[in-house]
Parts: sequence; structure tokens; C-alpha cells
Amino acid sequence: MSRLLDLIRSGRGRVIVAVDDPLITLSRFKELVMKTKDVVSGFKLGLPYILSYGLDSIRSVITDFRDTYYIADLKLADIDVVMSLTTKVVCRVGFNGVIAHGFVGLKGGLDGLKSVCDELGVDLYIVTSMSHLGSTEIYDLVIDKVLSVVEGLRPTGVIAPATRPEVIRRVRSYLGRTYLILSPGVGAQGASPGSAICAGADLEIVGRAITSSQDFVKASEEVIKSQLKYLEVSRCY
Ligand code: XMP
Repeated sequence: MSRLLDLIRSGRGRVIVAVDDPLITLSRFKELVMKTKDVVSGFKLGLPYILSYGLDSIRSVITDFRDTYYIADLKLADIDVVMSLTTKVVCRVGFNGVIAHGFVGLKGGLDGLKSVCDELGVDLYIVTSMSHLGSTEIYDLVIDKVLSVVEGLRPTGVIAPATRPEVIRRVRSYLGRTYLILSPGVGAQGASPGSAICAGADLEIVGRAITSSQDFVKASEEVIKSQLKYLEVSRCY
């Protein structure tokens, strides 16, 4: 079972903080983790951040604060050998999970990556659709095929967009309760905190609405408070 589920069950807010912008200095990132790790369920680091600061710097933060959860958002989309090598390199610094695209397919692609994740004890999350409008041009047209890939793969969870709750509902009804659904698009991209959870997600991924605040704790607590309010008003329990 994923450590992430344990963190949610321990009462942390159903938020993963996305850290992408290199303008967030390493010391601010460290401050973010230190101050919010008991408030939110984890942190997702994007490629611009990982590439800007490098794995050694990121390792130093992860090592200092092990009692939370870190996802490397590499959005892997390659042949199995290359995705596996990338994952081995990146996860050496202590990431708990990686994200790969579902359209890659199983054979010679995600199957091999999943084996390596299992060996390393790293959780795998599969993108099923995306939060931007262009997702409706291709991803959403083949979503059932992507979901059948997910069923064949049995990852820890999937990514589905908060900006289109009907897609989250589709993903949840197809996959049932077996997989975690992580949902980006809350805050800066327009979706209200709580709306993705109401549609069936387990966690909402929130970046700029928290990371651009001077007060990380206050911003995180406000998102969590808004989530609870949304769930109450919409009667989503
Ligand atoms: P903001 O600042 O917009 O950050 O709250 C959102 C974060 O989520 C990521 N993102 C996605 N990741 N599928 C994904 O796997 C998506 O559809 C998607 N949309 C946004 C984005 O990279 C950022 O880290």
C-alpha cells in the first residue's frame, strides 16, 4: 500500500503541493516543506525545478524531511529502457513516486517501467487526461484506451484534471476505488478547491496558489478550509 494513503489517513490535508518555478529558491522550498509537511500530504516537483537545482540539492531537502511524500513529475513518455533509467537516476535521491504518460502503452513501455518501480519501491502514477484545453484534442478522445492500459498496469494511481470534473467522474467510474486519483488544475488554472475531490479525486494538486504566497502555511490551510467548505456545501462526503 502506498505511503501516500497512510499520510492521507493520518489526517493531513488532501493536497499535494506542486513546486515548479525555479524562482522558488532552494531555501524557500526547504521552508515550504518544513512548515507544511504536517498540513499537506506531499510535494510534487516538476522538471523546471529538478533541472534548475539538480538532484544533489533536492536530495538535501528530502533527506532532512523524510516524514512526507515526494513525487518526481517527469511526465515520462519513452521506451521502457529509457523511462527505467530516468527513474533509477531520479529516485536515488529519495522520491517516493514518479509520473508517466498513459498513452505510451504497456508493451515495451509502461510494463518495463512498472517492474523497475516495483524493484525500487517507487509508486507509479499514470496521466489519463490533462488539465489544459488541448487535452480534448487527443487525450480525452482515447481515454478509455488509456484507462485499459491503467488496468493492465496496476499503478498506484492516476492523474485526472480538476478543470474537467466530468473526466474525473469518468475515470473513477471506470477504475473503481482501486487507484488513487490525483487531480491538478485547482487554483491558478481555475478549478475550486474541493471540486475535484467532490468529483471523485483523492487528492488535489495545488501549485501557484500555495507556492506564490509569502505565507505557505496560511495559503495551504486556506486551500484545505475551502476544500472542506466546498464538500460541505455540495454535500460530497
Ligand atoms: P498550478 O500552479 O497550476 O500547478 O496549480 C499545477 C501543477 O500540476 C501539473 N499539471 C498536470 N500534471 N497532468 C499532470 O500530470 C495534468 O493534466 C496537469 N495539469 C497540470 C503542472 O505540471 C503543475 O505542476
